[in-house]
This record gives sequence, structure tokens and C-alpha cells, in this order.
Amino acid sequence: MNIEKIRKDFPILNEKKAPIYFDNACMTLKPVQVINKMNEYYEQYPACGGRSHHRLAEKVTEETMKARKEIANFFNAKNEREIIFTRNTTEGINLVANSIRWNKGDIILTSDKEHNSNLIPWIVAKNRGLRHEIFKFNDVEDFKKKIKGVRLVSIVHTSNVDGSSNNVHEMIKIAHENNASVLLDAAQSAPHKSVDVRKLDVDFMVASGHKMLGPSGMGVLYGKMHLLEELNQFLVGGDTVKNSHYHTFEPEDIPERFEAGLQNYAGMIGFAEAVRYLKKVGLKDIEEHELKLNAQLTDAFNNLGITILGPKDPKLRSGVVGFNVGQMNPHDVALMLNTHNIMIRSGMHCVHSWFNAHKINGSARASFYLYNTSEEVEEMIKRMREIVKLR
Ligand SMILES: Cc1ncc(COP(=O)(O)O)c(C=O)c1O
Repeated sequence: MNIEKIRKDFPILNEKKAPIYFDNACMTLKPVQVINKMNEYYEQYPACGGRSHHRLAEKVTEETMKARKEIANFFNAKNEREIIFTRNTTEGINLVANSIRWNKGDIILTSDKEHNSNLIPWIVAKNRGLRHEIFKFNDVEDFKKKIKGVRLVSIVHTSNVDGSSNNVHEMIKIAHENNASVLLDAAQSAPHKSVDVRKLDVDFMVASGHKMLGPSGMGVLYGKMHLLEELNQFLVGGDTVKNSHYHTFEPEDIPERFEAGLQNYAGMIGFAEAVRYLKKVGLKDIEEHELKLNAQLTDAFNNLGITILGPKDPKLRSGVVGFNVGQMNPHDVALMLNTHNIMIRSGMHCVHSWFNAHKINGSARASFYLYNTSEEVEEMIKRMREIVKLR
């Protein structure tokens, strides 16, 4: 992996005051290939897709169909019609939560370390007579104890708090043996390692394009075709129907029936360009690179007495280092690093429930991606040495 060459593709990394950008779990930077592809839409064919029959509209339809195919290939879906474009992971989860034909008393099982996106929809679902149970993150034995009678397991793949992962291979197998379906939140895994929906045999999968070099506000929901066919429609209106009368309508085919209203065409096309870029660099190399950076920062933090969240072994924490400096407010740590042009995230990372349960007031978090360098990590270590002295 040629990092120097990769960095040339990211306009912001070539500015005079290029940031040391370690907030990739929130949002990644965008390569010029993605920006150009989106500009191509706005400059050359800024029209509607799938509706009109003029030259520009047909180009939009052609490009968005190509984009859907590209995303389907990236996740190894059997059929591009199993790919539904969304705004983000949150919307994908809400779509599933609001579209399954639930029976009163159905049980949804999540882990105890879920992003609010995969917690709040299930708390709200209790108002509709559904039950929500919780197992301990990555604890297969606890999972086995709780799986009986569950209708849907909805779990995070890789945690945005500490980078550790649920043993999803095992959990999906056990869920299926118990007749439960599985919805996988791949927001923090899909950008960094292969998420092969067929190999995993997962029923639904959601991810966010903006966490994988794609445009902001662009996501994906994958679903096995026979399960998508069983879903109710969630958002309805333009483009979700083939025909309507004053009191009835005929739903559109899948996936369009789940994509209401005029779509983010530039977003779809840009998202596809992002996964093309990731494929070209290679997810295996990206993952390996992030693990090296994680090991470097972990080593230094251990020497400085900084507490790291999650497993001790950095190999089990992907490209994420969640940490605390004694009782220091994590926002202060982030603000001090910001004065040195180092950008991290601080707070509860939308996983308030886990922090509250563990009586931790939050954490600072550095998260890496393919364009980060060992020199950047070294600079952060240097600044953290100064910050630790203020403790
Ligand atoms: C594990 C996880 N799930 C879900 C989300 C929500 O993603 P989005 O805001 O793109 O919907 C995030 C965002 O950080 C996340 O890290």
C-alpha cells in the first residue's frame, strides 16, 4: 500500500495545514475520484433517474444502476436488487424496524454496546408491543442463553467505542439454528474489512457510505430477497408505487419500493466510486495498516499510563483507540489536540447506554484510516506526553 500516493488523492491532505485526521469512525475524508464523480453528475447530467426518457435522465438511470451493481459486488450480494440506498445506517435500521410484519410480543435481541441507531428504534418498538432483550457484547454463551424465542437479532459488527467486534459468524449461525433473523450494523466494519453478506449468511446488513470515503448522507441496506419481499413499505409516496387510484395503489418492485421520493443520485454514484477506490487499494491491506497504527499508539499509551477501552490486544480493536487520561475530561483532551491540528472525537460516541451502565463519563477516541501515517501517530504521541503531564 503506497500511502504517499494515496494521500495525494485527498485534497485536504495536500493543503498547507493538512489536518492529522483521526476522526474516521465518524466521517472519512473524500478522495478526488469520489468528488469528481459527483461533480460529473452535477455538471453533465443533473436530472432525475428512472422517470423521464430524455438523454440526461437515461444517463442518470444508467449510472445509478451501475452504482447499485458496484455496491452489490462489494458486499457480495447475490443480486443488485437486494441493495437499497438509504441516507445512512440509522435509516436502514429504522426501515427494517418499521417494515417487518411484527406480531405482538416478538423479541428483538441486541448487545449491550449498541450505537443509539441500533438501540432507540427497539426502545420505541416496545410501544408497539415488541420486546427488547440485551446480551453482553461478544459473549457467545450469554447470546446462547438469550436467543430462545427471538425473532430478530440486531447487532453491531465492530463497536465504535473501542473497535472490538462481536463474533458475528458464530452468532448468525446460532440465531439461524433458533429461527431468528439477523440484522448486522456494519457501519464500523464495512469500511475496514470484507463484509461478505453471503459468506456471513446475514439476513440484513446496514452501512454508511460517509464512513468509507463516500459522500455524506449516503448509506445502504442489504436484505435477502425473500425477506425484503416480506417487508411492509415504510416511507411511501413518489417512486414507491407502479400505479395508484384514489384509495388504492400497487407497490413498485424491489428495491425502488423502499426508496421513496427523488433520490440522491450524485450520492449513489459517489458511493460506488468510493467502494471502487477501496477495492483497488484492497481491504486486507487497509486493515493491516490500521492495526499497525493501533499497535504503535497502544504501545505508547501503555507506557504513558493512559487507559485504553476494550481488549488489551490492539489486534482486537481494528483501527480504533478509545482512551482516557485519568479523570481528565475527554473533551479537554480533544480540544488540546485540536490546537495542534490533531482531530479526534470525544464524548459518549452515541453509545450513552454503555457508558452510563459502566459509570464512565465518556472517552477520547482516535480512529484511523488508509491515509493515516506512522508519523502522524508519532505526533499525537508527542502531544499526549505533554497532556499527560497536566494530569
Ligand atoms: C456502530 C455504528 N452504528 C451506527 C452508526 C450510525 O451511523 P449513521 O450516523 O451514519 O447513521 C454509527 C455512527 O457512528 C456507528 O458507529
